Amino acid sequence: MKKAGKLGAAIALTGLMLFAAACGGGSNEGTNNKGENKPASGTDKKVTLGFAQVGAESGWRTANTESIKSSAAEAGFDLKFSDAQQKQENQIKAIRSYIQQKVDAIAFSPVVESGWDTVLKEAKDAGIPVFLTDRAVDSKDTSLYVTFIGSDFVEEGRRAGQWLSDKFKDADGDVNIVELQGTTGSAPAIDRKAGFEEIIKGNSKLKVIASQTGDFTRAKGKEVMQSFLKAHKDIDVLYAHNDDMALGAIQAIEAAGLKPGEDIIIISVDGVKDGFIAASEGKINFIVECNPLLGPQLMQAVNDFLAGKEIDKRIVTEEGVFTSEEAKAALPDRKY
Ligand code: AHR
Repeated sequence: MKKAGKLGAAIALTGLMLFAAACGGGSNEGTNNKGENKPASGTDKKVTLGFAQVGAESGWRTANTESIKSSAAEAGFDLKFSDAQQKQENQIKAIRSYIQQKVDAIAFSPVVESGWDTVLKEAKDAGIPVFLTDRAVDSKDTSLYVTFIGSDFVEEGRRAGQWLSDKFKDADGDVNIVELQGTTGSAPAIDRKAGFEEIIKGNSKLKVIASQTGDFTRAKGKEVMQSFLKAHKDIDVLYAHNDDMALGAIQAIEAAGLKPGEDIIIISVDGVKDGFIAASEGKINFIVECNPLLGPQLMQAVNDFLAGKEIDKRIVTEEGVFTSEEAKAALPDRKY
C-alpha cells in the first residue's frame, strides 16, 4: 500500500514538472492544451489538496472523511481539510482560502447543488482544478470542474421505490408512506426523492402522505418522525433518505409504542454499520447502499489529472442493496 502512495506522488510530481516545463514554469494560471484548468506548477514534492467537507452530519460522512484523510496520506498528499458544518458559506470561504494558498487541487462535496459558479470561476481563473466528490453542482458550465466522482442518487431512489412497489404489488388498500428527506437543496435529497417517485407512480396504491427534511441527522429524523406520528395514525411505510434519519425515526416509533420494521416498514439509504445493525434486528427492512469510501478514487483522479491524463467527466460508484437478512449476513464484514 505504501508503494502505491509513493508511486502516486511520483506520478503527480512528474506531471507537475512536465506541465511546468511545457508552460515555461513559474506561473500557475491559465488552461492546459485541452482548454481545461491546468495543474499548478511548483517545486514542492508533495501535491497539496484542499478538501472542503460538508460537515459531520451522519455516519456516512464520518466514513467519507476517514476515507479522504487516509487515502490522501496513502497517496503522499499534503491535505488541507475543512468542515463546513452543513453551511454553503463556510464551504465557499474554505475554497477561497485554498485558492489564496495556491493549492494544487481542490475537492469538495457541495452541501447544496446551486450557487457555486462564482467561486468555481475564481478557482478556474487561478488555474486550480476542482474535483467534485459525493455530490454534484447544477452549474451549466461543466468546464468549471474536472470530474464528479460519486453515487447515482436517482438510481438509489429508484431502487428504494422498486423494492417497495414489489413488496406491495398486491396490496388491498392504500399504502401510506412518510418520507424523511435529506438536506434541502442537496443533490441526494433532490435525486433520491425523484428516483423514488418515478417508480412508485407505477403503483397507484403507494401514496406519500407527508414529506419533510430531517437534514440527514439522527436528531432531526427523530423530531420529524415524532411530528409525523402525531399528525398521522395510519403510517405504513417510512422512506428515509439516509440511515441516520431512519435510526432517529426508529427511536420515535418505539417511543410511540410501535414496532419498527413490522408496524411501520422502513427503507433507508447508506448502509453504514448502525444501519446494518438495525436491519439485522429487523427494524429496517431494506437498505439501498451509498458507498462513502471515495478517497482512493479521488486521489487517483487528482494524480491522473496532474500527470496530464484524460479524466472521465463522471465517475460512478458501484453499490448494492440489502434486505434485513442480507444485512445480517454482511454485518460481520462491514467496514464502516
Ligand atoms: O451525500 C451523501 C449523503 O450525505 C449520505 O447519504 C448522507 O448520510 C450524508 O449526510
